[in-house]
Amino acid sequence: MDTSKTQIIAVVNEKGGVGKTVTVLNLGAALCLKGKKVLIVDMDPQFNATRGLGISPGKDGTSVYDIIKLPEPVPAQSVVLQTPWKRLDLIPSNADLSGFEVELANEQGRENRLNEVLAPIVDIYDFVLVDTPPSLSLLTVNVLTFASDILIPCQTHPYAYGAMDELVETISIIKDEINPDIRIMGVAATFFDRRTRVSNKILEDLRADKRFKGKLFDTVIRINTTIAESAYYGKPVVFFRPSSTGAADYLALADEILDRA
Ligand SMILES: Nc1ncnc2c1ncn2[C@@H]1O[C@H](COP(=O)(O)OP(=O)(O)O)[C@@H](O)[C@H]1O
Ligand SMILES: [Mg+2]
Repeated sequence: MDTSKTQIIAVVNEKGGVGKTVTVLNLGAALCLKGKKVLIVDMDPQFNATRGLGISPGKDGTSVYDIIKLPEPVPAQSVVLQTPWKRLDLIPSNADLSGFEVELANEQGRENRLNEVLAPIVDIYDFVLVDTPPSLSLLTVNVLTFASDILIPCQTHPYAYGAMDELVETISIIKDEINPDIRIMGVAATFFDRRTRVSNKILEDLRADKRFKGKLFDTVIRINTTIAESAYYGKPVVFFRPSSTGAADYLALADEILDRA
């Protein structure tokens, strides 16, 4: 693989509460600690990734919505924010984004908006991590049109594992019809609790699942209450409490991704 090329990673799962936002924030933070230049793009109208970096989308604040909207989008560069952490930038979201689907319903090429506006500015980053809403909306399709790679967080819970069928189907449609070069870079087991039978069972199932052969990360993200606590303070846990298991897991995941690149 060409290591000089920006890796654009969509963190996707149509199910909510599986660790997408936490993965975007902490993988981004961990890669940045390892010297990489990272851009986080928040494509969820609920703007949890934005808040997770301590940034509150003020009513008048511009967001990713302003660069993809039509007509009269603003230049992409004008919505990029520096975070308190070196090498980590953010394109924030706000609630305006929820109107995008309806407003662009009749626009030609509406699935390509994010790609169109961001592709020219991503070169200065090593990694772009994109957070997505828990649905297969036009927003998620825009992310999958823009991305080079997909990272799927899968909660080690039966419902979450069951929901993977639909996700795999969706990704194959996107690959066939819109973005033939996109690939599933990996599946990360999240919310792992080794004391519970169900967590262990789902991890076993994921390891045996032929669809994800060679894709399941060795790193397993354990349940760690410090992760939720760090969200309260608007800091990725990797920065908030480097000694936590949450930080250790995401730093290990970052190492795996750097090894694979
Ligand atoms: N490994 C973890 N251990 C404990 N809590 C977690 C973990 N990962 C995520 N959380 C918490 O679970 C909730 C859902 O996670 P989140 O990343 O927001 O999921 P999603 O973006 O898929 O909806 C959040 O409150 C988050 O702080
Ligand atoms: Mg989320």
